[in-house]
Amino acid sequence: MPEPAGPDLLRLDGVCKSFGKVVVADRLSLTVGAGDLVGIVGPNGAGKSSLFGLIAGDLRPSAGQIVFAGRPVTRLDATARCRMGIGRTFQVPRPFGGMTVLENVLVAVQQGAGLRRRPSYAAAAAVLDRTGLLGDANIPAERLGLLSRKRLEVARALATGPDLLLLDEVAGGLTDPEVAELVTIVRGISAQGVAVVWIEHVLHALTATVHRLLCLAGGTFIGDGAPAEVLALPEVREVFLGTEVTASLHQAGPRLADGQDREDR
Ligand SMILES: Nc1ncnc2c1ncn2[C@@H]1O[C@H](COP(=O)(O)OP(=O)(O)OP(=O)(O)O)[C@@H](O)[C@H]1O
Ligand SMILES: [Mg+2]
Repeated sequence: MPEPAGPDLLRLDGVCKSFGKVVVADRLSLTVGAGDLVGIVGPNGAGKSSLFGLIAGDLRPSAGQIVFAGRPVTRLDATARCRMGIGRTFQVPRPFGGMTVLENVLVAVQQGAGLRRRPSYAAAAAVLDRTGLLGDANIPAERLGLLSRKRLEVARALATGPDLLLLDEVAGGLTDPEVAELVTIVRGISAQGVAVVWIEHVLHALTATVHRLLCLAGGTFIGDGAPAEVLALPEVREVFLGTEVTASLHQAGPRLADGQDREDR
């Protein structure tokens, strides 16, 4: 397993969560270092989004501990964890549709980062710039195309001033050039020292970006390490049965067969 990029920022110890008979976390343990850039893959329904819910405070574990920045956060709600520096996007974007892009980002800056007045406008402008949204600042969110909706989802999470950014399938449904734009944005965020954990079905986006890849299946991590090594593991290949590797890991990385990369246009 590669060494984390810095001291532990996030630690999960023996975290458990089930929905009825569906086990999404079975004594999950995980550490993410400050400034780390980690990808998560796994079959549909594996519990990847639920894992983000557990980390961000939208879901409560039935057992186990979550520690962020050296403090136990297991009992803290999502608002408290956001203010401590955990930002997340949602698989289905959740902007305020009638508000402009700038207004959406301002809400996140003011509520999440706690800034007011002029500093909040400056911070919002910086986030719009980093996510390529300056030209869309005055457009109502509901009128955005898919790429800009994805950018806005990242922008709203970034605007809360996170040390840890959780990205849930932000590349789904995008064309290859659009995916490349998003990869550039994520790399830029990572280069500023923000730790990023990115769940994605678009494997070539992940393999082009992350240093470490985890594969979640059956409530546990069945792979954790360098992306090429994890994707070559027999148990990982098994859960992706029916997927087609169309490109070398050393080039663009593998792609899922048509239909695996779920469309959400
Ligand atoms: N709030 C909930 N109540 C009941 N069941 C849930 C809830 N959230 C998730 N589940 C179930 O838990 C399982 C894991 O869901 P989750 O959304 O975490 O998977 P995922 O790995 O993100 O899948 P996908 O790749 O399709 O996004 C699924 O069977 C889902 O139906
Ligand atoms: Mg999901």
